[in-house]
Amino acid sequence: MTYGRYVGCMTGTSVDGLDLALIEVSPPKNVDLARESISILNAQTIPLPEKLRDALLASGQPDQSSVDLLGECDGQLGDFIGASIIDWLRSLDISLASIRAIGSHGQTVRHRPPGTRDSAFTLQIGDPNQIAEITGIDTVADFRRRDVAAGGQGAPLAPAFHDVLFGNTATATCVVNIGGISNISPLGNHNGGFDTGPGNCLMDAWFCQHHPNHPERFDTSGKWAAVGRVQEALLERMLGDVYFARRPPKSTGREYFNLAWLESHVSALSDLPPSADVQATLSQLTATTLAASIIQSMPDVRDVPICGGGRANDHLMRNIQECLQHLTEEDIRVMPAEAWGFDGDAIEAAAFAWLAYRRMANLSGNDPRVTGALGARVLGAIYPG
Ligand SMILES: Nc1ncnc2c1ncn2[C@@H]1O[C@H](COP(=O)(O)OP(=O)(O)O)[C@@H](O)[C@H]1O
Ligand SMILES: [Mg+2]
Repeated sequence: MTYGRYVGCMTGTSVDGLDLALIEVSPPKNVDLARESISILNAQTIPLPEKLRDALLASGQPDQSSVDLLGECDGQLGDFIGASIIDWLRSLDISLASIRAIGSHGQTVRHRPPGTRDSAFTLQIGDPNQIAEITGIDTVADFRRRDVAAGGQGAPLAPAFHDVLFGNTATATCVVNIGGISNISPLGNHNGGFDTGPGNCLMDAWFCQHHPNHPERFDTSGKWAAVGRVQEALLERMLGDVYFARRPPKSTGREYFNLAWLESHVSALSDLPPSADVQATLSQLTATTLAASIIQSMPDVRDVPICGGGRANDHLMRNIQECLQHLTEEDIRVMPAEAWGFDGDAIEAAAFAWLAYRRMANLSGNDPRVTGALGARVLGAIYPG
């Protein structure tokens, strides 16, 4: 029997912290539902030590990375994940022996899916051997590469989980995750989900460049963006990027949408806009591309639960609501995932706990309609505890 408790962990594109989630996987509640039922029991985000965070960011930079740095980061992150899981489970008074397996996404240091360059690959680090050794728990990792080997994007993997977690919703629902990159999951929709483009990554990069001493590495609640004015010329230029016009399946990362990408657009303008205006325009870019993607893949959408850190950006949330309203006459509910009873910071990590369950049960983890892989595949490798 593979039902039971699973731990999922991941560090996202924002490299802001290690997200941990504990889930319970149970048999289908309803005989008509083919899929297992999931409840998220607990979740926590552990800040990354500053030195490890800087090293991880550097190991993802094409011109700064080396085999030495990559190898060191791989081991150190695995070690940090293992130790964090032990501390966290102890604090919850949950025995390590009660966990069936850990699903560890790790940190993506490069994502080069098919369709962008000749040789496609995706690479996540955070040595699972360390996690298995430290915790003594079976650890599943390397979830994306089998999908890429089968011709898929290797991403996003969350849409299949969103379908299981939200179940059969009464209204047309499109789940959105706004991390460094944004992705959408039109539930039960055979168009699948995909990465829509930048979520917070450009806003974070621009904000940090202009507020190096701010206590947070982001524009809290989007307050700075809220005092800026959208610069239409800049918005149009950025919207002209080929990524937005490409049809799904598609996925992207910070190796594509980054400060250099933004600066190439800003510097091409005849007049340099005030920096707050650029921030306002970036918020509008995330909202516009999200709204257009949602309506394109689910024209009758009514509910839009938002997961990920971007849901705490009030200005961005207003932008998304306005952009959707602009595209359709209908009332659309754009709210944090909490309005649907889910912790919006836990869902991505919970997805990897679920993927660990799928691996242990020898069930497929990808949705080929989302990733474009040749077929359904069992994802990940097991590192016995
Ligand atoms: N209070 C807040 N106000 C505005 N933005 C926020 C807030 N809290 C988090 N964020 C944004 O969310 C990001 C982290 O989101 P997360 O879902 O963890 O992304 P990732 O999966 O890429 O790590 C931060 O970098 C920041 O941009
Ligand atoms: Mg994060």
